[in-house]
Amino acid sequence: MMEFELEVNKVYLPYLNMITPRIQIFFGGSSSGKSIFLAQRTLTDIILGTHNYLVVRKVARTIRASVFNEIVKLINEHDLNKLFNINKSDLVITCRNGCQILFVGLDDVEKLKSITPAKGVITDIWIEESTETFEDDIKQLQKRLRGLSKQPKRLIMSFNPIMKSHWIYTEYFKNWVDGSKEYHDDEISILKTTYKDNKFLTDEDIKNLESETDKYYYDVYTLGNWGVLGNLIFKNWEVKDLTKETVIVGDKEVSIMNTFDNYKNGLDFGFSEDPAGLIRTHYDKKNKTIYVVDELYEREMTNDVLQREVKKIIGDEYVVCDSAEPKSIAELRRLGTRALGAKKGKDSIDFGIDWLQRQKIVIHVKCQNFKNEIQQFKWKEDKDGNVMKVSVDKNNHLMDALRYCYEDEMTYRQMTAVKGF
Ligand SMILES: Nc1ncnc2c1ncn2[C@@H]1O[C@H](COP(=O)(O)OP(=O)(O)OP(=O)(O)O)[C@@H](O)[C@H]1O
Ligand SMILES: [Mg+2]
Repeated sequence: MMEFELEVNKVYLPYLNMITPRIQIFFGGSSSGKSIFLAQRTLTDIILGTHNYLVVRKVARTIRASVFNEIVKLINEHDLNKLFNINKSDLVITCRNGCQILFVGLDDVEKLKSITPAKGVITDIWIEESTETFEDDIKQLQKRLRGLSKQPKRLIMSFNPIMKSHWIYTEYFKNWVDGSKEYHDDEISILKTTYKDNKFLTDEDIKNLESETDKYYYDVYTLGNWGVLGNLIFKNWEVKDLTKETVIVGDKEVSIMNTFDNYKNGLDFGFSEDPAGLIRTHYDKKNKTIYVVDELYEREMTNDVLQREVKKIIGDEYVVCDSAEPKSIAELRRLGTRALGAKKGKDSIDFGIDWLQRQKIVIHVKCQNFKNEIQQFKWKEDKDGNVMKVSVDKNNHLMDALRYCYEDEMTYRQMTAVKGF
């Protein structure tokens, strides 16, 4: 076996070789080292030669830029390339000893059906950002894999505790005592961590987390406590698999997506901290319904890469962009995208929110990042929980992009009429 040194945060050390119990939960605040530790443990297990991992997220296309990249980065940083074959197109990492890490989205039903490691059976399923999943997703997944082998498997979950009403809380936290750091019984282990458990953070990282002023965000992402989501801005939305929705046109039943012809696209720029976010929607003006059909949500994209990715999604359609970056808009144009700057202007955020609240929003199931944003988009609360009439300026990249899309629909006259001026 090849020697390599891992620098594991102390709090996770007892978990490095912990084979039982069957269900192992790692949750807590932002930047607490959960994902890096589980990536380290995955590699250690694979090198041991007795494990095959299935790493899962709700939506396949969110995997590459997150958990897949983290594991690849770890391999590179520790000079383990000789030990591993990394297949970037199939998202499979194979160790020289034959053991594999397979990555799959729960929405990739075909791939899930046929998933088997090159040798042996899957021993571990790691569900990253598990709060994105539904209870039924996990049940189905376990059923399918149980059918393939009788061997017990570890089910590993990692996530931020975004809302106490979540099925994961109901299902696995029955014996959890708020304020504790861990829980163990024969079936389940739970470890809660926060940024204080991660010695690798910079002073600035820590300052950012400690200076959070919204109570909900402070509770969930700084302290790692189960959040209680109140004061939500949007409740007028639902998630649907639009590929399965049909409408009657004439005397024919057709896919609803084939009837979309009023596309509106918005783009929010970002690079390192903030991702760039593109949203593609169709507007059914008669029924005041916005269909969110596609999205792009990625960090570290230079403008030429961004333009290529945007083009793949919107083709030759217009896209309304954050006007704070005229240079980026000019660059997108030069590269062949019909990019326009949003007008924004005074009160445009309030107006935009007001207008969007009066629409119905249908989100295509693959737009997981937009769903993540809208389900947490809330009015700001101070430390005592008092609500302010201003939205939290966080996790709102696609939300901003959505406002840009509909700027031309939200005319000042409409807005003032609504505001009762
Ligand atoms: N063992 C480690 N060695 C080096 N750096 C680390 C280690 N663990 C964590 N870090 C650093 O801390 C950062 C945050 O860790 P990580 O992404 O694992 O947190 P997380 O708990 O998954 O956060 P989130 O809840 O936001 O997903 C990493 O990007 C990395 O820079
Ligand atoms: Mg993480």
